Amino acid sequence: MPDIPHLFRPLTLRSITSRNRIVISPMCQYSAHEGYVNDWHLVNLGRFATGGAGIVFTEATAVQKAGRITHGCPGLWEDGQIAGHARLVRFALDNGALPGVQLGHAGRKGGMQRPWFGNGPLGVDDAARGDSGWTPLGPSPIPVADGWPEPHALSKGEIAALVDDYAAAAGRAREAGYRIVELHGAHGYLIHSFLSPLSNRREDGYGGDLKGRMRLALEAAEAVRGAWPDELPLFFRTSAVDGGADGWQLDDTVVLARALKGLGVDVMDCSSGGIAGPATAGGRRQPGFQVPYAAKVREGAGMMTQAVGLITHPAQAEAILAEGQADLIAIAREALANPNWALHAEQALMPGAGYASWPEQSGWWLAMREKTSDFYQPEGG
Ligand SMILES: Cc1cc2nc3c(=O)[nH]c(=O)nc-3n(C[C@H](O)[C@H](O)[C@H](O)COP(=O)(O)O)c2cc1C
Repeated sequence: MPDIPHLFRPLTLRSITSRNRIVISPMCQYSAHEGYVNDWHLVNLGRFATGGAGIVFTEATAVQKAGRITHGCPGLWEDGQIAGHARLVRFALDNGALPGVQLGHAGRKGGMQRPWFGNGPLGVDDAARGDSGWTPLGPSPIPVADGWPEPHALSKGEIAALVDDYAAAAGRAREAGYRIVELHGAHGYLIHSFLSPLSNRREDGYGGDLKGRMRLALEAAEAVRGAWPDELPLFFRTSAVDGGADGWQLDDTVVLARALKGLGVDVMDCSSGGIAGPATAGGRRQPGFQVPYAAKVREGAGMMTQAVGLITHPAQAEAILAEGQADLIAIAREALANPNWALHAEQALMPGAGYASWPEQSGWWLAMREKTSDFYQPEGG
């Protein structure tokens, strides 16, 4: 497809096809009640679907009640939660986007404050507001950082129940009609906390060497794959590195990716960090700072990758794909700034695209305005 920019080439994943390579990355909204999504989620995700993205992900969605990050995080741990998700799914599909859901468990970071209340562990002031904390779960009794609660180290029986809960949540995601499931294996949450030697000091089969630390990730992926239709794709979000010499390394991620690929994971979504709290890695972030992880995993594991992190410009996204560093581009904060990012990117990369891809409710008027109007120009501007 020489004439179509890489960013706008459709991508077939198993039986489904994304209209382009633009993915709206999962973004917690902290706005659910008792794990139930509501009108906020519909409008928030809906604007990304009408904004032209190929794939729109619902935020980290808990497979257990204790797996919520905050009191405002949604879940799919009980059947009653399916209907709200089905509404999000319908709207996305009606507007040409593939709806995906990120299934996760907060692990050691369960029971955090919503960011605007501090982004730390829940405390006395939060309890007064009705947001009491709960005992978080982890591989070992090692808190996220000083001042954070000590997690309960999961027993083997509890791990088996957790793996079943991942599968059950995937079944509910299927019932809701989602087309993609992503397993959240990043950002210091439960699966990542088992992978990282910084948080996993277990001496049973779920800890120790790389194989032991990968065991929960692989069991969860296998269970979800078993509950998720063969014809639909499964993504895995990884923190490709913890940062620092003692933590999880990029080479470990390649080993993990190969194993996940063998279990039927289709795309590795390459993020980083988070094992030691909300703000792990130091220093100012640079554009596309995580793209090299996606490139390395793509080459090392021979599988599709999704690049994410400070990708804000259409030409930047196009170059990542054209250079073969990733297959999909995930946008998060820039989509908050501009939910129509994909539509504007199309105009930027495809001169003459006009408003043909815009929802007809707006595109017709904007095209007509352009044909018939002059625009205000500031003096000297
Ligand atoms: C408001 C907000 C909520 C987020 N929630 C999640 C989440 O639920 N799951 C996840 O894997 N990442 C989450 N992230 C991280 C983003 O998906 C993304 O990886 C990160 O913001 C970097 O991309 P960006 O530079 O395009 O924003 C969140 C980011 C933001 C800004």
